[in-house]
Amino acid sequence: MHPTASAQTPSGAAPVITIDGPTASGKGTIAQRVAERLGWRVLDSGALYRLTALAVQDAGADACNEPAAAALARQLDVRFDAGGVWLRDRDVTQAIRREAIGNLASQVAAWPAVRTALLARQRDFRAAPGLVADGRDMGTVVFPDAPLKIFLDAAVGVRAERRYKQLSEKGISANLDDLLNDLRDRDARDRGRAHAPLVAAHDAVTIDSSHIGVDQVVQQVLALWSARGPA
Ligand code: DC
Repeated sequence: MHPTASAQTPSGAAPVITIDGPTASGKGTIAQRVAERLGWRVLDSGALYRLTALAVQDAGADACNEPAAAALARQLDVRFDAGGVWLRDRDVTQAIRREAIGNLASQVAAWPAVRTALLARQRDFRAAPGLVADGRDMGTVVFPDAPLKIFLDAAVGVRAERRYKQLSEKGISANLDDLLNDLRDRDARDRGRAHAPLVAAHDAVTIDSSHIGVDQVVQQVLALWSARGPA
């Protein structure tokens, strides 16, 4: 058994490893891989903001304001299953990954009422034997008592190239300069907002993945978790 696979936090709640970082830093892939290795659940919190953005877009221009977006966030009828995301009976797995939805998500995420509306839903993912949660404020706001917090960073140019490669592999055409500008705008918005900005928690370990691959980052996170020893 992994030395701390069944460890509880001092409060008795299931353990959480938080992985925060900027757009396209590889958080989602790392979170999945770490969770698989530990046999834990995953929370992709960005998906909830993307789903809210999709609901806002579907509802039309009248919904693009803080109270309306928060109401939509509260009512989201969402289901995550077998790698797919469903909004009511519609498979939105691909739709929420579009760059336009990511940009709108970053805008609606700046509204405090939207963040409050999604808070309890995110905390509900915490269950034994453990949770790996990725996002922007997992370690600072949503799970401040998490026993291991990672801040995953990478140079913006490297992130843009990774995103470009991902999109090309899916047959989606993209322009590298546009992607770079979008990432810079989103970084500035996510880091600069007043409420729950993207920032490393004071007790987070920063990993810069600019020059190391996914496997190495996963190994580092697992080694940090093992090094904690039984709680
Ligand atoms: O991680 P992502 O690219 O799927 O997230 C989309 C947007 O959602 C991101 O630009 C900011 C917002 N977000 C957030 O504000 N807080 C989170 N915990 C996760 C995402």
